[in-house]
Amino acid sequence: MQKQDLLYAGKAKSIYKTDDPNFMVMEFRDDTSAFDGEKMEQLDRKGMVNNKFNAFVMQKLSEAGIETHFESLLNDNESLVKNLEMLPVECVVRNRAAGSLVRRLGVDEGAELNPPTFELFLKNDALHDPMVNTSLCVTFGWATEDQLADMKRLTLVVNTVLSELFKSGGMILVDYKLEFGLFEGRIVLGDEFSPDGCRIWDAETLNKMDKDRFRQGLGSVIETYEEVGRRIGIEF
Ligand code: TMP
Ligand code: ASP
Repeated sequence: MQKQDLLYAGKAKSIYKTDDPNFMVMEFRDDTSAFDGEKMEQLDRKGMVNNKFNAFVMQKLSEAGIETHFESLLNDNESLVKNLEMLPVECVVRNRAAGSLVRRLGVDEGAELNPPTFELFLKNDALHDPMVNTSLCVTFGWATEDQLADMKRLTLVVNTVLSELFKSGGMILVDYKLEFGLFEGRIVLGDEFSPDGCRIWDAETLNKMDKDRFRQGLGSVIETYEEVGRRIGIEF
């Protein structure tokens, strides 16, 4: 597979065309963004850590029967992925209250959410990813009712698989965000799963082990991502 022109550069990843229109190269850069690009920094080794973290998790999800865009690791910072037509909607599941849920509803951080919640957000930095719902997605053509039903079902299957995985490493999967796209008409998991797009707490101390370390200036960001990875069996 031959890597070709840059197709798109996001805040932390870049996408390159390949000589096969069905596949793309996803590059994980060291750029780290929070608050929709308001806080930006380069963190040494982050691209490599997130690339390997994502590869490991996507393989676990694939083994559990979830179709993902991940094909193979190419090198430290790049993976080969299927070329999905991405839907501009982010799916968020929460097992514990944190982040915007705490700000919006005034519930205590850490409160257990049973059953877990499922929320939709529009992917739009300028608008700070506003919360949306099925009706808005359908009316504005961001996704159909059937596609949204598939996305919700798959996002909750991911919760079962990954909550167990992080629990086995003495951690709590607090919440996470997934993005999906279409491949040959099917809903397929795209984007990434890494500590950048989820919250993970140590089960004993409730220490934050995810991008909140960067957002809140807690330090040891990448060292902690690596610790999370090692606890679930990733070799960096
Ligand atoms: P929130 O508490 O800010 O709504 O975020 C919930 C989870 O989803 C948290 O793990 C961060 C993740 N997330 C992103 O990674 N990117 C986003 O644009 C959004 C809205 C959430
Ligand atoms: N993912 C968003 C950003 O990169 C929001 C955040 O993580 O705070 O800016």
